[in-house]
Amino acid sequence: MNVKDKWLATKAVHAGERRDPPIGPVSTPIYETSVFVFSSTRELIDVISQRKEGFLYTRFDNPTVTAVEQKMAELEGVEAAAAFSSGMAAIASALFTVVSSGDHIVTTQDIYGGTVSLFADIQARFGVDVTWVEATDTDAFAKALRPETKAIYVETPTNPTLKLVNLAQVCKLGKEKGIPVIVDSTFASPHNSRPALHGVDVIVHSATKYLGGHNDVTAGVVCGTRDFIQTLKTTRKMLGGTLDPVAAWLLLRGLKTLDVRMQRHNANALQVAQWLETHPKVKRVYYPGLKSHPQHGLAKDQMWGFGGVVSFEIDGDFATTTRFVERLKLCLLAPSLGGTETLVTQPVTSSHYFMSPEDRQKAGITDQLVRLSIGIEYVEDIIADLDQAFKAV
Ligand SMILES: Cc1ncc(COP(=O)(O)O)c(C=O)c1O
Repeated sequence: MNVKDKWLATKAVHAGERRDPPIGPVSTPIYETSVFVFSSTRELIDVISQRKEGFLYTRFDNPTVTAVEQKMAELEGVEAAAAFSSGMAAIASALFTVVSSGDHIVTTQDIYGGTVSLFADIQARFGVDVTWVEATDTDAFAKALRPETKAIYVETPTNPTLKLVNLAQVCKLGKEKGIPVIVDSTFASPHNSRPALHGVDVIVHSATKYLGGHNDVTAGVVCGTRDFIQTLKTTRKMLGGTLDPVAAWLLLRGLKTLDVRMQRHNANALQVAQWLETHPKVKRVYYPGLKSHPQHGLAKDQMWGFGGVVSFEIDGDFATTTRFVERLKLCLLAPSLGGTETLVTQPVTSSHYFMSPEDRQKAGITDQLVRLSIGIEYVEDIIADLDQAFKAV
């Protein structure tokens, strides 16, 4: 058993769970209440003024939500976490905590489309300047920094071409200049990468993906220092994007099996990637676990596993690629990732649909690109499904 397994498996099951006496449930209950009752005005004032710990109103905090936050803080190896109603609520709240008008952010071209739109919007409407650099080029990050830079925001591995950002190098840069590094670690999950070990200050997740893991919950999480999360929770109170208790419970349940699910996602994806690499109808495979990946060495240094997402280019045109995707039976045509079911998308018709053809070309999003989010099914069944679809085109 390596360091990661020791760290993660037991914490995923037990950390944060509220087994409060006298009832002592093994599984944290869903505290489905919007508000909490007080025995006196004195007690209410003590809680509202934060002189005493306690729950007041679910938009501020709720015991089921707090449980999932504690579990996530322990899984990421940081002091605290805050849970949100979606990954985008988490990302937007983290950004609004860090930047004000007149500030500057350095980010990469390879971030989630929703985050690109958010940056473009705050740039146009709130005067926060954004510089976009190549994810794999640490020197470009260094050159882009300015005195008014307030955050470096990255995603690793990236979607859908699975590039890596060198976290240690980028964090060194951030530390030298006193600029926080925020990483969207959705594609990795704490099973495959723990960004805090490389010096990352703030970790964000779309918990809709591997953390929830069953394609049945929409959620987001931000992890960081106690001070940062406290300030972030003030932003969350104002924007109102707190996770609701039922979704928090689904996330708690999903997280308990993170370790075993991720082992299967990693193993299945590697086998599918290796199979695709030898297929005559495949031009190129993107997967950090393959020796042919240009950053395979960095992937081995920075990650414990390579994830469940595999992208590849079909040797054909857009129509052939669409036919292939539509022929799949087990692999479902659905634009998400990180769940038990294998999902397939064409990035040009989903995540990158609104990008201009020129920008898509720059980002390597071709008409022949297919993204698979490999699930936890029996891997031979996934390969058989891909095989029958290839035979049909
Ligand atoms: C890497 C990444 N970050 C953030 C998000 C946004 O998360 P959500 O859909 O939970 O708001 C997504 C969604 O696909 C994503 O892939």
